[in-house]
Amino acid sequence: MEFKQYFKDKCIFVLGASSGIGIEICKHLLSYNATVIMHYNTNEKEIAILQKEYPQSIKVKFNIKDEQEIKKVTSKLFSQYKIDAFINCVGIMIRSFIPLTSKESFNNIVTTNLIDAFVVLKYVSLEMIKNKTGSILNVSSLAGSHGLKGQAAYSASKAGLDAVTRVLSKELSMYNIRVNGIAPGFIDTGILAEPKEQDLAFKEKIPLKRFGTAAEVAHLTCFLISDYSSYITGQTIKIDGGLSNAL
Ligand SMILES: NC(=O)c1ccc[n+]([C@@H]2O[C@H](COP(=O)([O-])OP(=O)(O)OC[C@H]3O[C@@H](n4cnc5c(N)ncnc54)[C@H](OP(=O)(O)O)[C@@H]3O)[C@@H](O)[C@H]2O)c1
Repeated sequence: MEFKQYFKDKCIFVLGASSGIGIEICKHLLSYNATVIMHYNTNEKEIAILQKEYPQSIKVKFNIKDEQEIKKVTSKLFSQYKIDAFINCVGIMIRSFIPLTSKESFNNIVTTNLIDAFVVLKYVSLEMIKNKTGSILNVSSLAGSHGLKGQAAYSASKAGLDAVTRVLSKELSMYNIRVNGIAPGFIDTGILAEPKEQDLAFKEKIPLKRFGTAAEVAHLTCFLISDYSSYITGQTIKIDGGLSNAL
């Protein structure tokens, strides 16, 4: 079967689908005729455009800080659709050197990227366990494995998420559920829409001498949630133009 045809009967739930990497993943999956549940919190604009173009798409709104809402929505979605894969693309980042970072600011990043994301993963896992099949993918970051200057909270949150990926893969393998992550380096979208001086300095260090594109990240994501990667679990795969080898 051709890779594109593989997704024809599949249903994918994308958390944090409203912009950047998330919306690009949705575009790829929709173009492969998958049914895509697109989650957003505050920004509906691009999702609404995709919905007009692809009637098989579904939109869902909630704040991942609201555990009761997460529980209600995931239970409802899994009862309505046979969800084959879940992609966690939510992430926030601020730049701040540790001596200048408040406890509140550090806490906010770690809570959103790690703890709130963990709560969603918990309820998605509970539903997938009932189905005894599925694939989960966390969008992490190179910051998680390498720690980037000015990004202590973000790096810590993604390092924690990588650990959750490893543990969840061990806990869910007996239910035929694979759990992986991807760790993008510098991707020309979303958080990097307006690159700062230090981002441009990193560009020089990237062996491929450019930032990555959201489409390149989407290709890897589609592979990792599909059965084409059926023997891969517990991994966080770097997609960084070789930067991790150069740091
Ligand atoms: N861009 C890069 O260079 C890069 C590099 C490495 C890793 N990453 C990772 O890739 C992922 C996507 O990055 P991006 O640049 O595409 O980011 P983005 O465009 O800013 O998208 C972030 C997504 O997270 C959602 N979100 C944030 N807080 C939320 C909350 N409290 N409740 C529910 N949803 C919430 C946003 O929803 P709304 O907008 O609807 O509120 C949005 O859909 C993130 O995990 C990021 O850490 C990005």
